[in-house]
Amino acid sequence: MSDWIPDGIDLSKPSAARVYDYYLGGGHNFEVDRVFAERALVAHPFAREMAVINRTFVRRAVQLMVGRGIRQFLDLGSGIPTVGNVHEIAGDSRVVYVDCEDVAVAHTRMILKGSDRATVVHADAARPEDVLRAPETTRMLDFDEPVGVLAATVFHYVPEQHDPFAALERYRDAVAPGSYLAISHLASDGLPAMIEQMAAMMKESRNSIHARPCAEIARMFGDFEMEEPGLAGVAHWQSERPVDAVRHLDVGLLIQAGIGRKPTGRGSSDTG
Ligand SMILES: C[S@@+](CC[C@H](N)C(=O)[O-])C[C@H]1O[C@@H](n2cnc3c(N)ncnc32)[C@H](O)[C@@H]1O
Repeated sequence: MSDWIPDGIDLSKPSAARVYDYYLGGGHNFEVDRVFAERALVAHPFAREMAVINRTFVRRAVQLMVGRGIRQFLDLGSGIPTVGNVHEIAGDSRVVYVDCEDVAVAHTRMILKGSDRATVVHADAARPEDVLRAPETTRMLDFDEPVGVLAATVFHYVPEQHDPFAALERYRDAVAPGSYLAISHLASDGLPAMIEQMAAMMKESRNSIHARPCAEIARMFGDFEMEEPGLAGVAHWQSERPVDAVRHLDVGLLIQAGIGRKPTGRGSSDTG
């Protein structure tokens, strides 16, 4: 078997990581994912564009953070590496990738073999202690220095009962002042009928989706100071040109994105 195909993988249902990989043109997906992705494209023809635009947001967020001096990243729900992974964009930074999906973790592990600046943790991002106390994390990241935390299109896979808000609060508390948090998340109030349809389809996959109102997504940033333009349609990050933002209106209404910075001038708790 290839290194990226974990033993005993369950191929009875598509996974969000592998469908997303397919949309981005990656090769780490299976027939079950491709068939599902093509059906989803019929229902929502802009699904592939959504993935590409969200990926642009991740790139722009990392570039912004690197520009502000961030040199270490925690990428929650990092997905299957295709191109433009955080360690490729972030120069000499240190990166911890976190995902709960077997193929995402196996492939990340494979491409990072021999790297002393990037590693992967196989964990549920909604269980921050598992992430923050993992030996890979404590070895790679210095929580006395600012960290760039990325949570791009991941917490809408976390149901209320796993308390995504408490998880994000724990990550915000764990990082030093001057750290950054980037979130993109499916919004339930932009195009509610379409989101309901998407959620119904995703029930066939391994990842159910839990879109949330913009006000709740904004709450995930706590008291972090928002970068311009605040929480906005993800298409904002696609291009400076307003005309593109209009072209991507649907996508922008479906995914909200923002970047916040932890205020300086107060302490941070440690990871222990
Ligand atoms: C749509 S992909 C996004 C990948 C990347 N963050 C991006 O925005 O380009 C969502 C990823 O989140 C992962 N994921 C979903 N729920 C998760 C959880 N509770 N903990 C960790 N990863 C999770 C999936 O396996 C998948 O790889």
